[in-house]
Amino acid sequence: MKKMRKVLAVLMILTLLVTVFAGCKKQDDNGKETGTTESTAAETSPILQKDVIVVGTNAEFPPFEYLLDDGVTPDGFDMALIKAIGEKMGKEVKIENMDFDAILAAIGNKVDIAIAGLTVDEERLLQVDFSDTYFTAVQSIIVKENDDTIKSAEDLKGKKIGVQLGTTGDLIATDDIEGATVERYKKAITAVLDLLNGRIDAVLIDSATAKALSAANKGTKVIEGDFEPEHYAIALPKGDTALKDSINKALKEVKEDGTFDELLEKYIESGE
Ligand code: ARG
Repeated sequence: MKKMRKVLAVLMILTLLVTVFAGCKKQDDNGKETGTTESTAAETSPILQKDVIVVGTNAEFPPFEYLLDDGVTPDGFDMALIKAIGEKMGKEVKIENMDFDAILAAIGNKVDIAIAGLTVDEERLLQVDFSDTYFTAVQSIIVKENDDTIKSAEDLKGKKIGVQLGTTGDLIATDDIEGATVERYKKAITAVLDLLNGRIDAVLIDSATAKALSAANKGTKVIEGDFEPEHYAIALPKGDTALKDSINKALKEVKEDGTFDELLEKYIESGE
Protein backbone atom coordinates (compact mmCIF):
# COMPACT_ATOMS: atom_id res chain seq x y z
CA MET A 1 0.00 0.00 0.00
CA LYS A 2 2.83 2.28 0.97
CA LYS A 3 4.51 1.48 -2.34
CA MET A 4 1.36 2.38 -4.24
CA ARG A 5 1.21 5.79 -2.57
CA LYS A 6 4.81 6.42 -3.46
CA VAL A 7 4.18 5.61 -7.12
CA LEU A 8 1.17 7.89 -7.13
CA ALA A 9 3.16 10.71 -5.58
CA VAL A 10 5.88 10.38 -8.23
CA LEU A 11 3.26 10.35 -10.99
CA MET A 12 1.67 13.51 -9.61
CA ILE A 13 4.98 15.31 -9.46
CA LEU A 14 5.76 14.28 -13.04
CA THR A 15 2.39 15.54 -14.28
CA LEU A 16 2.96 18.80 -12.47
CA LEU A 17 6.41 19.23 -14.03
CA VAL A 18 5.12 18.54 -17.53
CA THR A 19 2.35 21.11 -17.07
CA VAL A 20 4.77 23.72 -15.75
CA PHE A 21 7.21 23.19 -18.64
CA ALA A 22 4.45 23.27 -21.22
CA GLY A 23 3.44 26.67 -19.87
CA CYS A 24 6.99 27.92 -20.33
CA LYS A 25 6.87 28.11 -24.11
CA LYS A 26 7.75 31.61 -25.23
CA GLN A 27 4.89 33.68 -26.56
CA ASP A 28 5.00 37.05 -28.25
CA ASP A 29 2.53 39.90 -27.65
CA ASN A 30 -0.10 38.30 -29.83
CA GLY A 31 0.15 35.07 -27.96
CA LYS A 32 1.97 33.48 -30.86
CA GLU A 33 4.82 31.15 -30.00
CA THR A 34 8.29 32.43 -30.81
CA GLY A 35 11.37 30.29 -31.18
CA THR A 36 15.10 31.03 -31.37
CA THR A 37 15.03 30.34 -35.09
CA GLU A 38 12.99 33.48 -35.59
CA SER A 39 15.24 35.76 -33.54
CA THR A 40 18.01 37.56 -35.42
CA ALA A 41 21.70 37.15 -34.69
CA ALA A 42 21.80 40.63 -33.14
CA GLU A 43 19.15 39.64 -30.60
CA THR A 44 21.20 36.68 -29.43
CA SER A 45 24.54 38.53 -29.21
CA PRO A 46 24.81 41.65 -27.01
CA ILE A 47 27.95 42.68 -28.93
CA LEU A 48 26.18 42.52 -32.30
CA GLN A 49 23.65 45.02 -30.98
CA LYS A 50 26.30 47.70 -30.57
CA ASP A 51 27.58 50.11 -33.24
CA VAL A 52 31.11 50.14 -31.85
CA ILE A 53 33.05 46.99 -31.03
CA VAL A 54 35.87 47.44 -28.51
CA VAL A 55 38.90 45.37 -29.46
CA GLY A 56 41.78 44.57 -27.12
CA THR A 57 45.36 44.33 -28.33
CA ASN A 58 48.95 44.71 -27.20
CA ALA A 59 50.65 47.04 -29.65
CA GLU A 60 54.13 45.64 -29.01
CA PHE A 61 54.19 43.02 -31.72
CA PRO A 62 55.23 44.29 -35.16
CA PRO A 63 54.16 43.82 -37.92
CA PHE A 64 50.80 42.76 -36.42
CA GLU A 65 50.39 45.60 -33.95
CA TYR A 66 52.60 48.50 -32.96
CA LEU A 67 52.22 52.19 -32.14
CA LEU A 68 52.91 54.81 -34.79
CA ASP A 69 55.57 57.45 -34.10
CA ASP A 70 53.01 59.57 -32.22
CA GLY A 71 53.21 56.89 -29.53
CA VAL A 72 49.43 56.44 -29.25
CA THR A 73 47.97 55.32 -32.58
CA PRO A 74 47.96 51.54 -33.07
CA ASP A 75 48.73 50.26 -36.58
CA GLY A 76 49.74 46.95 -38.14
CA PHE A 77 48.26 43.96 -39.96
CA ASP A 78 45.84 42.96 -37.17
CA MET A 79 44.62 46.53 -36.75
CA ALA A 80 43.88 46.87 -40.46
CA LEU A 81 42.32 43.40 -40.59
CA ILE A 82 39.93 44.01 -37.71
CA LYS A 83 38.92 47.35 -39.22
CA ALA A 84 38.15 45.63 -42.52
CA ILE A 85 36.15 42.96 -40.67
CA GLY A 86 34.28 45.68 -38.77
CA GLU A 87 33.40 47.39 -42.04
CA LYS A 88 31.91 44.19 -43.44
CA MET A 89 29.84 43.87 -40.25
CA GLY A 90 28.75 47.52 -40.39
CA LYS A 91 30.53 48.27 -37.11
CA GLU A 92 33.06 50.78 -35.97
CA VAL A 93 36.09 49.33 -34.23
CA LYS A 94 37.75 50.92 -31.20
CA ILE A 95 41.18 49.63 -30.18
CA GLU A 96 42.13 49.29 -26.50
CA ASN A 97 45.88 48.82 -25.97
CA MET A 98 46.93 46.80 -22.91
CA ASP A 99 49.51 44.35 -21.56
CA PHE A 100 49.53 41.08 -23.47
CA ASP A 101 48.95 38.96 -20.38
CA ALA A 102 45.82 41.01 -19.51
CA ILE A 103 44.06 40.57 -22.85
CA LEU A 104 42.10 37.34 -22.40
CA ALA A 105 40.77 38.32 -18.97
CA ALA A 106 39.65 41.69 -20.40
CA ILE A 107 37.24 40.02 -22.83
CA GLY A 108 33.72 40.39 -21.49
CA ASN A 109 34.50 43.44 -19.38
CA LYS A 110 37.02 46.03 -20.69
CA VAL A 111 36.84 44.81 -24.29
CA ASP A 112 34.41 42.84 -26.46
CA ILE A 113 36.94 40.82 -28.46
CA ALA A 114 40.72 40.78 -29.00
CA ILE A 115 43.16 40.60 -31.90
CA ALA A 116 46.83 40.36 -30.94
CA GLY A 117 48.58 37.71 -33.00
CA LEU A 118 46.93 35.35 -30.55
CA THR A 119 47.80 31.69 -30.99
CA VAL A 120 44.92 29.28 -30.50
CA ASP A 121 45.75 26.78 -27.76
CA GLU A 122 43.92 24.34 -25.49
CA GLU A 123 44.49 26.36 -22.34
CA ARG A 124 43.15 29.59 -23.88
CA LEU A 125 40.13 27.73 -25.27
CA LEU A 126 39.03 27.13 -21.68
CA GLN A 127 38.75 30.90 -21.23
CA VAL A 128 37.63 32.22 -24.64
CA ASP A 129 36.38 31.12 -28.04
CA PHE A 130 38.38 31.76 -31.21
CA SER A 131 37.35 32.78 -34.72
CA ASP A 132 38.64 30.89 -37.76
CA THR A 133 42.41 31.21 -37.95
CA TYR A 134 44.00 33.82 -40.23
CA PHE A 135 47.79 33.36 -40.01
CA THR A 136 50.34 30.63 -39.34
CA ALA A 137 53.56 31.36 -37.50
CA VAL A 138 56.30 29.47 -35.71
CA GLN A 139 58.65 30.50 -32.91
CA SER A 140 62.01 31.92 -34.06
CA ILE A 141 65.15 32.83 -32.17
CA ILE A 142 66.79 36.27 -32.26
CA VAL A 143 70.49 36.25 -31.34
CA LYS A 144 73.39 38.68 -31.70
CA GLU A 145 74.72 38.82 -35.24
CA ASN A 146 78.18 37.61 -34.22
CA ASP A 147 76.87 34.74 -32.05
CA ASP A 148 78.04 31.37 -33.36
CA THR A 149 77.08 29.32 -30.31
CA ILE A 150 73.31 29.34 -30.94
CA LYS A 151 72.50 27.81 -34.31
CA SER A 152 69.33 25.87 -33.51
CA ALA A 153 66.66 25.38 -30.85
CA GLU A 154 68.86 22.63 -29.33
CA ASP A 155 71.53 25.20 -28.53
CA LEU A 156 69.11 27.15 -26.31
CA LYS A 157 69.54 24.57 -23.52
CA GLY A 158 70.88 26.19 -20.38
CA LYS A 159 70.80 29.69 -21.94
CA LYS A 160 69.20 32.92 -20.77
CA ILE A 161 66.15 33.41 -22.96
CA GLY A 162 64.07 36.57 -23.20
CA VAL A 163 60.35 36.27 -23.97
CA GLN A 164 57.26 38.41 -23.89
CA LEU A 165 55.28 37.69 -20.72
CA GLY A 166 52.38 35.29 -21.21
CA THR A 167 53.11 34.44 -24.85
CA THR A 168 53.55 31.01 -26.38
CA GLY A 169 57.28 31.85 -26.54
CA ASP A 170 57.17 32.20 -22.74
CA LEU A 171 55.41 28.83 -22.37
CA ILE A 172 57.83 27.02 -24.69
CA ALA A 173 60.96 28.51 -23.10
CA THR A 174 59.59 27.71 -19.62
CA ASP A 175 58.30 24.18 -20.26
CA ASP A 176 60.34 22.76 -23.12
CA ILE A 177 63.88 24.15 -23.03
CA GLU A 178 66.06 22.27 -20.61
CA GLY A 179 67.93 24.30 -18.04
CA ALA A 180 66.95 27.64 -19.58
CA THR A 181 66.65 30.79 -17.46
CA VAL A 182 63.61 32.67 -18.71
CA GLU A 183 63.53 36.47 -18.54
CA ARG A 184 59.98 37.78 -19.04
CA TYR A 185 59.40 41.22 -20.55
CA LYS A 186 56.23 43.27 -20.99
CA LYS A 187 57.55 44.52 -24.33
CA ALA A 188 59.39 42.38 -26.87
CA ILE A 189 61.55 45.34 -27.84
CA THR A 190 63.00 45.52 -24.30
CA ALA A 191 64.08 41.89 -24.64
CA VAL A 192 65.86 42.73 -27.91
CA LEU A 193 67.63 45.67 -26.25
CA ASP A 194 68.72 43.39 -23.39
CA LEU A 195 70.06 40.94 -25.97
CA LEU A 196 72.16 43.71 -27.48
CA ASN A 197 73.29 44.72 -23.97
CA GLY A 198 74.42 41.16 -23.29
CA ARG A 199 71.93 40.58 -20.45
CA ILE A 200 70.33 37.64 -22.24
CA ASP A 201 71.54 35.18 -24.89
CA ALA A 202 68.47 34.96 -27.12
CA VAL A 203 64.88 36.10 -27.65
CA LEU A 204 62.19 33.53 -28.45
CA ILE A 205 59.30 35.06 -30.37
CA ASP A 206 56.95 34.45 -33.31
CA SER A 207 58.63 34.35 -36.73
CA ALA A 208 57.27 37.46 -38.48
CA THR A 209 57.84 39.54 -35.33
CA ALA A 210 61.38 38.18 -34.93
CA LYS A 211 62.10 39.31 -38.50
CA ALA A 212 60.60 42.75 -37.95
CA LEU A 213 62.40 43.30 -34.63
CA SER A 214 65.72 42.08 -35.98
CA ALA A 215 65.42 44.26 -39.10
CA ALA A 216 64.82 47.28 -36.88
CA ASN A 217 67.71 46.47 -34.53
CA LYS A 218 71.19 46.33 -36.06
CA GLY A 219 73.52 43.71 -34.63
CA THR A 220 70.90 40.95 -34.42
CA LYS A 221 69.94 38.00 -36.62
CA VAL A 222 67.10 35.47 -36.73
CA ILE A 223 67.52 31.72 -36.45
CA GLU A 224 64.75 29.27 -37.31
CA GLY A 225 63.99 26.68 -34.66
CA ASP A 226 62.03 23.51 -35.31
CA PHE A 227 59.01 24.45 -33.26
CA GLU A 228 55.38 23.50 -33.91
CA PRO A 229 53.36 25.80 -36.20
CA GLU A 230 50.96 28.16 -34.40
CA HIS A 231 47.71 29.55 -35.75
CA TYR A 232 46.45 33.06 -35.02
CA ALA A 233 42.78 33.86 -34.47
CA ILE A 234 40.55 36.55 -33.00
CA ALA A 235 39.58 35.86 -29.37
CA LEU A 236 35.86 36.05 -28.59
CA PRO A 237 33.72 35.76 -25.48
CA LYS A 238 32.80 32.16 -24.74
CA GLY A 239 29.53 30.88 -26.15
CA ASP A 240 28.55 33.85 -28.34
CA THR A 241 28.02 31.80 -31.49
CA ALA A 242 26.11 34.57 -33.30
CA LEU A 243 29.12 36.85 -32.92
CA LYS A 244 31.53 34.10 -33.94
CA ASP A 245 29.49 33.32 -37.07
CA SER A 246 29.31 36.98 -37.99
CA ILE A 247 33.07 37.53 -37.54
CA ASN A 248 33.93 34.37 -39.49
CA LYS A 249 31.62 35.46 -42.29
CA ALA A 250 33.25 38.91 -42.42
CA LEU A 251 36.75 37.35 -42.33
CA LYS A 252 35.79 35.12 -45.24
CA GLU A 253 34.52 38.12 -47.21
CA VAL A 254 37.70 40.07 -46.50
CA LYS A 255 39.67 37.09 -47.85
CA GLU A 256 37.46 36.62 -50.90
CA ASP A 257 37.49 40.25 -52.04
CA GLY A 258 41.29 40.46 -51.97
CA THR A 259 41.59 42.83 -49.00
CA PHE A 260 43.31 40.19 -46.87
CA ASP A 261 46.08 39.60 -49.44
CA GLU A 262 46.56 43.35 -49.87
CA LEU A 263 47.07 43.71 -46.12
CA LEU A 264 49.47 40.74 -46.03
CA GLU A 265 51.49 42.38 -48.78
CA LYS A 266 51.41 45.83 -47.18
CA TYR A 267 52.28 44.87 -43.63
CA ILE A 268 54.06 41.51 -43.71
CA GLU A 269 55.45 40.36 -47.04
CA SER A 270 56.89 43.76 -47.92
CA GLY A 271 59.13 43.48 -44.86
CA GLU A 272 60.51 40.04 -45.75
N1 ARG B 1 51.44 34.27 -30.80
C1 ARG B 1 51.94 34.46 -29.47
C2 ARG B 1 50.89 34.12 -28.45
O1 ARG B 1 49.74 34.04 -28.76
C3 ARG B 1 52.46 35.87 -29.24
C4 ARG B 1 51.46 36.95 -29.41
C5 ARG B 1 51.95 38.28 -28.89
N2 ARG B 1 51.09 39.33 -29.30
C6 ARG B 1 51.20 40.63 -28.92
N3 ARG B 1 50.35 41.46 -29.44
N4 ARG B 1 52.09 40.98 -28.08
O2 ARG B 1 51.19 33.96 -27.30
